[in-house]
Amino acid sequence: MRGLEQIPWLYDLGLALLERGRLGRWREWLAGGARGRTLDLGTGTGRNLPLLPRGAAVAVDPHRPNLARARSRAPHVPLVLARAEALPFRDGAFDTVLSGLVLCSVRDVPLALGEARRVLAPGGTLRAIEHVRGGHLIGAIQDRVQPAWTVITGGCHPNRETERALREAGFELDASSLRARGVMRRLEARPRGGSLRSAPPGRHDP
Ligand SMILES: C[S@@+](CC[C@H](N)C(=O)[O-])C[C@H]1O[C@@H](n2cnc3c(N)ncnc32)[C@H](O)[C@@H]1O
Repeated sequence: MRGLEQIPWLYDLGLALLERGRLGRWREWLAGGARGRTLDLGTGTGRNLPLLPRGAAVAVDPHRPNLARARSRAPHVPLVLARAEALPFRDGAFDTVLSGLVLCSVRDVPLALGEARRVLAPGGTLRAIEHVRGGHLIGAIQDRVQPAWTVITGGCHPNRETERALREAGFELDASSLRARGVMRRLEARPRGGSLRSAPPGRHDP
């Protein structure tokens, strides 16, 4: 069954409303800080793409209709049908990886973060806007609504502990970039001790 994340016009309508406030400014921060070769993970309808420098970005998403919408929004950006857990790019191919509301939706967060680490060049950064599990009552409510929420949205988990997942995946969070507002987080992270290097055969340049 399709959820909100797989209905491009509805997703865009909802996000256009939400981005009238802080989320819009955070998206500008997310894309505005991209440096060098940039991968937009789970690009969805491509809302980050017009904000990225021309010629430097590649985007992936596993849902074809989302990519079709992204194509109309940013015809100049190469789009690849792929999952964050198995990126078809060589080690160190990107200077920046963007995750805009994606780590809540990927099936396997450690695998996706391992792949993000692998495709980052030395000195590269992962920039993210995510919602995370809140504390106490909020977290308990998120836990309770998660199963229904995941079905309605088509994959989103409202209660992931994404900052912890990043640390466990070997990323160091840049404290100066971190902003928290309720359950929303804006952050930049770098692989501790450099990026991973393990090129499976057949991986290609972006
Ligand atoms: C909430 S939307 C965010 C879209 C876009 N990044 C944005 O900022 O508006 C989540 C997106 O993640 C994509 N997604 C779901 N599972 C994924 C996976 N395993 N790998 C990559 N993207 C995935 C969905 O298709 C959807 O487009």
